[in-house]
Amino acid sequence: MSSADTARPTPRRSDFPRDFRWGCSTSSYQIEGAAQEDGRGESIWDRYCATPGRIRDGSSGAVACDHYHRWSGDLDLARALGVGAYRFSVAWPRIFPDGVGERPNQAGLDFYSRLVDGMLERGLEPWATLYHWDLPQALQDRGGWENRATIEAFVDYAEAMARCLGDRVKHWITHNEPWCTAFLGHHEGIHAPGIRDYRRALQVCHHLLVSHGAALPALRGWAPDAQVGITLSLHPIEAASPSAADAAAVHRHDGTRNRWFLDPLYGRGYPADIVERLGADAPVVLAGDFETIAAPTDFLGVNYYFPEVVADAPGAGPIATRVVDRPGVERTAFGWEIAPQGLVTLLDRIRADWHPAAIYITENGSTFDDVVAPDGRVDDPKRLDYLARHLAAAREALAHGVPLKGYFAWSLLDNFEWAEGYVRRFGLIHVDYATQRRTVKASGHWYAGFLKT
Ligand code: FCB
Repeated sequence: MSSADTARPTPRRSDFPRDFRWGCSTSSYQIEGAAQEDGRGESIWDRYCATPGRIRDGSSGAVACDHYHRWSGDLDLARALGVGAYRFSVAWPRIFPDGVGERPNQAGLDFYSRLVDGMLERGLEPWATLYHWDLPQALQDRGGWENRATIEAFVDYAEAMARCLGDRVKHWITHNEPWCTAFLGHHEGIHAPGIRDYRRALQVCHHLLVSHGAALPALRGWAPDAQVGITLSLHPIEAASPSAADAAAVHRHDGTRNRWFLDPLYGRGYPADIVERLGADAPVVLAGDFETIAAPTDFLGVNYYFPEVVADAPGAGPIATRVVDRPGVERTAFGWEIAPQGLVTLLDRIRADWHPAAIYITENGSTFDDVVAPDGRVDDPKRLDYLARHLAAAREALAHGVPLKGYFAWSLLDNFEWAEGYVRRFGLIHVDYATQRRTVKASGHWYAGFLKT
């Protein structure tokens, strides 16, 4: 255990390189609302939320933070925090309401064009994510990511966006957390589209990875001076006990959580030990797919939230592992373990095993049950603490030689937290959903103070 795991450290901006990027992240479905406006088509999340019992509080992103109408004020708030970069995502159904088409929806393009201009006017560097989970429902009706044709649709969509924004957006992320899309959406069935089938999830996962690589030439073509990458949700994996069986379980679990993505992206194809265990469940891979997936990128986006502790679990599916709760540790309101040192372990390992040229933490953050005080203030000491300790961990990783180039806090605003609805608040800025009033939390003020030092 190092200092990052105990008392609140006091990192200073000046401890980081001058060109280190500091930012905040959001995603389209979680903040925009305006689900029916300006020709936006239905997304798989609209459909999923409309199915009773899927979302904890029965809500949806139909209004969310109403960012579609309030984007200008929201960018002012980001500017006031002092961040230099803002990571947002594009809602594919605003661009191609039917998923595909001869021509993109001009009103959708105009929205993102205004948004990007608004960022540039405020000195915010735009970081665009193409796919943060809101697939057009029309494509799902034709098989979604399970259908190989969706790869081509994604490439056309990527090209439309790069054509429109490539002159101004110099940082592109193809996918956000393909593990979640594939396995939460198609194996556990707790995210849209709510399918429960491991074999199908693996095929979805493969198509997501191929679509990432297949989209790169379009991005590079229309934004030749841009940096492009992909964002993965990665976890350090630890053993529940010192037994040899649990150590082997760690390797297998890591094989599906981390190696399954990083190995093919960095040119090694899928890990052989996992392919062998999957047997007939392994995805269909066509000739050339691994070359496509391994197309060179400029950076790796890492979303870090928590480590996973696993035990051997014979019979629990082909991978035979079980995630267990480590007793007696600090947790967020979501139950996620708070482990800043895990970020150091993870980044050291990524550097040692895959050597990306540059790494950005594209998400990191925490949820707690925030209370608005009678004077209107939102004091969130635990989120503040979480942030400070993870920044100290980032600094430690840098000192180890990790090519870490930036940090984006999740999230600028409280927002629609997927299956948890509005129950979970991750924002540095509080949103009162009844009035859409925004209040910078103590953690947001702390981040702003840090950024000023
Ligand atoms: C990540 C997602 C992001 C948000 C955070 C809390 O997995 O990318 O949209 O939900 O978790």
